[in-house]
Amino acid sequence: MTAYPEPGLPGQVTVYEVGPRDGLQAEAAVVPTSEKIAFIRALRAAGLPIVEATSFVSPRWVPQLADATEVLAGLEPDLAPYPVLVPNQRGLDRALESGARSVGVFVSATQSFAQRNLNTTRTAAIEAAQSVTAAALGHGLAVRGYVSMCFGDPWEGPVAPQTVAAVSRELFDAGCYEVSLGDTIGVGTAGHVGALLAAHEQVDRLALHFHDTYGQALANVHAGLRGGVTTFDASAGGIGGCPFAGSATGNLATEDLVWMLDGLGIQTGVDLRAVVAAGAAITRRIGKITQSRVAAALTVG
Ligand code: HMG
Ligand code: MG
Repeated sequence: MTAYPEPGLPGQVTVYEVGPRDGLQAEAAVVPTSEKIAFIRALRAAGLPIVEATSFVSPRWVPQLADATEVLAGLEPDLAPYPVLVPNQRGLDRALESGARSVGVFVSATQSFAQRNLNTTRTAAIEAAQSVTAAALGHGLAVRGYVSMCFGDPWEGPVAPQTVAAVSRELFDAGCYEVSLGDTIGVGTAGHVGALLAAHEQVDRLALHFHDTYGQALANVHAGLRGGVTTFDASAGGIGGCPFAGSATGNLATEDLVWMLDGLGIQTGVDLRAVVAAGAAITRRIGKITQSRVAAALTVG
């Protein structure tokens, strides 16, 4: 593909792959551990620098990821490129026992989703994330923060940028190296992305995490690039969702993101064809067709 760089955009972007975690957490089909490991390895081999591998959440809440310990065991010895989600101290303890080097804590910008996703209040979830972050830092781990429902919430409606920025600040102050702003139900639009970034002080330490429910994810990435963001979450095949927000569909497809970045001449280090192959294998395994327009086009063509 001939690249046509656009003035003012970054020369390099980090694609943060979340398919093995966000992608598989809401699937009816439970993927065998060995196939999860093969999926993660294929994504790394495709050049993705970070592959969020799994979650150490309650297996009663998310049975799809109950094998988190076994997944990390299959990825040893170097677990630095494989962050995992931890909802509480118990999750952190399990992650540490498994040798994790990098964890993600997650909170909600809204009360309703904090209750549904973490069975607690918005404020208590932030306090828990702060204390888990402190403990993880004490063990020398890198900690990423996630804020969910940054654009809108199915129960509460639109969410104000200032509300989100206040929550992000709590996570940065706790010591998170990066905060990923989640459009959990995919209702964000490009101008809203600009407004959300403008409400933040540390845009260079933000990542954006778009679910593509309304087909706005790529336009929103472009708005993020213009606003100075250089890390974007995505999942191979566009798989994903949240079991506790029914209106959350798949993440932005990694293939679609890489195609757009390649076209802009933005370096990612990712081999598009290899991601297409990894996405095809996992979507076949869970009995779904790919949500990636690029993967579909390249596969037919
Ligand atoms: P709870 O029921 O209030 O917690 O859930 P609990 O302390 O009463 O524990 C219930 C049971 O789970 C107990 O077991 C605990 O021991 C066990 P029992 O005694 O009944 O046998 N337990 C655990 N087991 C293993 N690992 C743990 C753990 N914690 C408790 N870490 C809790 C509270 C936080 C545990 C629960 O709500 C939970 O696990 N929530 C996770 C929900 C989740 O994974 N959501 C999806 C990820 S977030 C997301 O997708 C959004 C994101 O992509 C960004 C975006 O799109 O916006 C990041
Ligand atoms: Mg998500």
